[in-house]
Amino acid sequence: MAATKKTRSKKHKICVVGAGHVGLVAAACFAELGHKVICEDASKQRITDLKKLKMPFFEPELEALVKKNVKKGHLTFSYSLDNAVKKSDVIFLAVGTPPLADGSADLTSVENVARTIAFNLNSYKIIVEKSTVPVQTGQKIKETINRYRHGSVEFDIASNPEFLREGKAVYDFFYPDRIVIGTESKRAAIILKDIYAGLKAPIIVTNINTAELIKHASNSFLAAKISFINAVSRVCDLAGADVDMVASAMGMDKRIGKSFLNAGIGYGGFCFPKDLEAFHYIASKLGYDFGLLKEVKRINDEQQLYFVEKVKERLWVLKDKHIAILGLAFKADTDDMRFAPSEGIVRYFLEQGAIVTAYDPQAMNEAKQLFGKGTLRYAKNAYEAVKDAECACFLTEWDEFRGLDFKKIKKRMRFPLVADGRNMFNRDQMQRLGFEYLRIGG
Ligand code: UDX
Repeated sequence: MAATKKTRSKKHKICVVGAGHVGLVAAACFAELGHKVICEDASKQRITDLKKLKMPFFEPELEALVKKNVKKGHLTFSYSLDNAVKKSDVIFLAVGTPPLADGSADLTSVENVARTIAFNLNSYKIIVEKSTVPVQTGQKIKETINRYRHGSVEFDIASNPEFLREGKAVYDFFYPDRIVIGTESKRAAIILKDIYAGLKAPIIVTNINTAELIKHASNSFLAAKISFINAVSRVCDLAGADVDMVASAMGMDKRIGKSFLNAGIGYGGFCFPKDLEAFHYIASKLGYDFGLLKEVKRINDEQQLYFVEKVKERLWVLKDKHIAILGLAFKADTDDMRFAPSEGIVRYFLEQGAIVTAYDPQAMNEAKQLFGKGTLRYAKNAYEAVKDAECACFLTEWDEFRGLDFKKIKKRMRFPLVADGRNMFNRDQMQRLGFEYLRIGG
């Protein structure tokens, strides 16, 4: 995929710390823009695999982009952070910031990397936060580098939050709605703008705190939108209204917009749940009780329970019932199961003594790691999963499922009950095919 603007930028020497969903995509895309990129990760295994062009996770378009840029010499991999830092002018931090028990973000990796950068500060460098971090983290990074650096080599801190969706990350990198650059330094702003000069997107330059907040506020707002429509779906069920029609008509109002109004079993993934909690935590720490965010989480958690209760109501007793799970990833086009709504749903059915067989087009390995052997049964495809099932639960909106032969599905099931956790199918069509069809919100 090519960038969209012809403007030539200078080739910059970039280091991306962390070869995860954010870091590896950013590294490959910066390389595609013509920059010289070192992608560093603390895992020797991950780097060894990447040097052999073996991807650590599934992300459409990424493998081709990595291969192309490694071949061109634009992208290399390293597990020596010291060397990678010394050789680079701009260092993007894309390390994990996982949630702690109290909801705050664990910034241990960020602090470790900041210290290593300080020890290896051999020339002017810009240190850029790409991972989602709480507001005021930039200030802490600056203090850390000042504390540990030798001499007085100059550096600047910036925040350049990513808005990449898993499954669409490469597209989102090249066609962003906006690029946010938070920095107090003119010199850093000029360089960072130049790094993105190949892209056609508005660039917003702010101070660091504002940029950090833009990320948390954006993700929390999107999560709130999903919880709002999920709450509406509950009222729709009670009132006999159709949530999809409500969402579609609401979305035609440009002030509301159509996206992120799909009701279902709720949001998951590594970003929304953790960012929402971290935003609530940091707001409280600063002195504001952002209660709305707690409510967004409560509604989201309830959706899974609501879904399993619908199934239980139809099947009465779940013990020894055969249940097929179609879709495990937290959304389509990824193999990621982190905080996937499917996990809680599967565990509930298993606890109730049901015999659960699962299939996902990409996330089977992740599921095997999560649930282990002897609990879940794993099927090779959707048809195998539904054999003798008394209920088929669709939990991820894969296109593959939309193209299934439902006559064949029905023949293989013991009882033709479909529970659609993503409102993927048309009620009338499913009923015409002879299914009993459960969905969320009418
Ligand atoms: C999100 C943000 O969109 C991205 O900008 C950020 O940088 C990283 O976090 P991602 O986690 O990859 O991206 O997934 P996204 O497409 O945003 O979906 C998040 C969750 O919400 C998924 O579980 C999805 O199924 C769910 N969702 C989304 C809904 O339930 N309804 C919707 O209408 C939209």
